[in-house]
Order: sequence, then C-alpha cells, then structure tokens
Amino acid sequence: MRIDDRTAARLKELGVELRQGVTLTEHTSLEIGGTTDQLLLGSFETIPEVMRVLSEEQIPHRFLGGGTNVLVADGELAWVVLHLPSSQPGMRIEGNTAIVDAAADLGGMVTFCARRDLGGMEGLIGVPGSVGGALRMNAGAYGTQIGYYVREVELYRASPGLIETLRGDDIRFDYRHTSFAPDDVMLRVKLELPSKPYKEILAGIRVCNEKRRSSQPLNQKSAGCIFKNPPGESAGRMIDELGLKGHRVGDAMVSDRHANFFVNAGTATCSDMLRLIDDVCLRVRSAYGIELENEVIVWKN
Ligand code: EPU
Repeated sequence: MRIDDRTAARLKELGVELRQGVTLTEHTSLEIGGTTDQLLLGSFETIPEVMRVLSEEQIPHRFLGGGTNVLVADGELAWVVLHLPSSQPGMRIEGNTAIVDAAADLGGMVTFCARRDLGGMEGLIGVPGSVGGALRMNAGAYGTQIGYYVREVELYRASPGLIETLRGDDIRFDYRHTSFAPDDVMLRVKLELPSKPYKEILAGIRVCNEKRRSSQPLNQKSAGCIFKNPPGESAGRMIDELGLKGHRVGDAMVSDRHANFFVNAGTATCSDMLRLIDDVCLRVRSAYGIELENEVIVWKN
C-alpha cells in the first residue's frame, strides 16, 4: 500500500514521518512479511487526527509493535503500518508505580524497574517485544503475567476516536488474552510492582533465563510459541510426541529444540508458515482430538 503525495503532505503536518516501500522482514522476529509504506508517529496526542486523515483517505492501516508475535502476509501489503513514538527510555518510577510507554522494550522495562528495586516480572525478562504487545496479549512466562501488575492503561480507542484511560480492574487479563478491542492501541501503562532488592530480582532473572536457554530456540527466527496451550495440555509436548520436530514446509520448520516454536530456517514465506501451521493442526486434531489455537497473530492481506 502506498501513500499518495497529498496524504503524505497532510500527515507530515501532523509530525508523521513516512518511509516508503519498507520490507517487513526487517521488522518482525520471524523475518517474514511483504512490503508497504511505514508511518512513524511524532507524538501520542496526534493519533486521533492521524487516524482521521487515514480514514478520510481510505487508507487501511495496522499498528506494529515489536513484531515478535505476528505472521505477516507476503508480497505487496494492502495496508500501511504505523509505529508509535518511542522516547528513550519512555519509563519513569513514582514509588512502587512504573509509568511506561507502550513502545518501550519489555525486557528493558523489567531491567529498568529491577534496578530501582521493583520486582515481580522476572519471568518476563526473556519475552521479546514491546510493552504494548505484551499488554495486548497478556504476555506471561514462568508463573507471571504482565496483567497481574497493571493499574491503568492509556489507549487510543478507534470507535469513539479518542484517547482514554482504563483502570486495571476494568480490563480482563486471561491466559494470552485480554478484553481490549482488536483496534484499541496501547499507548502507556501504569504498573504497581512489589519492592524487592535488585540482587534478589537478578537471581530470579538468572534462573528464568537459564530455563529459557535450555528449552527454547532463542537464536533462531521465531515468534515464540506458535500455538496457545490448550487447557491442561502442552502444545509443544503433543507436537513433539507426534515426531514433528524438524518437520518443514519450505523453510518454515518445527524447531528441533521446542516443538511449539516454528522457526524460519532460511527464507520462509508466510504461505510456507501457514501451510506448516495447518498441517500440524490437522495432525494434532487427528491424534488427540484437540483443536490448537494460534498464539501468533496472522496479518493476512
Ligand atoms: N515439551 C516437550 N517437547 C517440546 C516442548 C515441550 O516434551 O518440544 C514438554 C516439556 O518437557 C514440559 C512441557 O512440555 O514437560 C511444557 O513445556 P515448557 O515448560 O517448555 O512450557 P510450554 O507450555 O511449552 C509455556 C509458554 C511459554 C513460556 C513457558 C515458560 C505457551 C504457549 N507457552 O511453554 O511461552 O515461555 O511456558 O513459562 O503458553 C510464548 O507464549 O510464546 C512462550 C514461549
């Protein structure tokens, strides 16, 4: 999708930087994705106006965060991608409260808080991606999840076209699922964290890192776990039991380290990855009678 000159000029007035013909392989951890124009927003405050311009000009769009849990279509994409402004570090502490921009790096936030003796999120340290992405899907690992600590979320709500603030109690955080609307855009979060000495937090972080290193293919191109775990089951264990580690469609491959990680073992396309997902789902359904649900978000054209 390409932005025409007239729209580009309107967006420029709102402080939006346009990058033309960007390949999303460079912006996703799977290194899969087609080409489109990219818009970098200058500030949160302009979001309602930017969205109004895009709607008036009938330009489909999607917000891209860290790109670590998304499988993007191949070829010329039918929508542009938007990126939130990211100030460095975009985080501050007031007592036991951390106020963090959605564009901040999740691991960076855990470390920033740890250095100020605020803990609880040790398990999240190795989860790649942005704070906004983690909020949207309630990212979790090793017994913790971001939702436990959320006290307030500032977000752009597409239906009224306004920036609003939600109280943590008014948001549902379930396993890899939240009550946010699909077109809500996370902007900033307030987390309340327990006090803990830095050294203790660091020890917890080391334990989680070690567990992760020993079981997950951290040095390969992936989107983390591709499927959610069905209630009381492990998708990785089932796929492994079916002997599917190393199984591939083109360069899309079931990791030989952890079977719920599908990796791009070279130059995999979205269509390779989708065929691999379908194939594995079919085999799990036939063997176990269980329907796997994607954890990865698929952005089709
Ligand atoms: N297992 C196998 N073979 C495999 C993978 C796992 O037999 O190839 C077995 C393990 O031996 C273990 C069980 O399955 O007995 C569970 O495995 P693991 O401890 O690795 O946890 P998981 O359920 O596969 C979940 C999350 C991970 C998170 C870890 C640690 C999901 C879908 N996955 O994995 O999150 O890091 O627990 O808390 O909830 C993610 O969401 O992207 C993700 C990586």
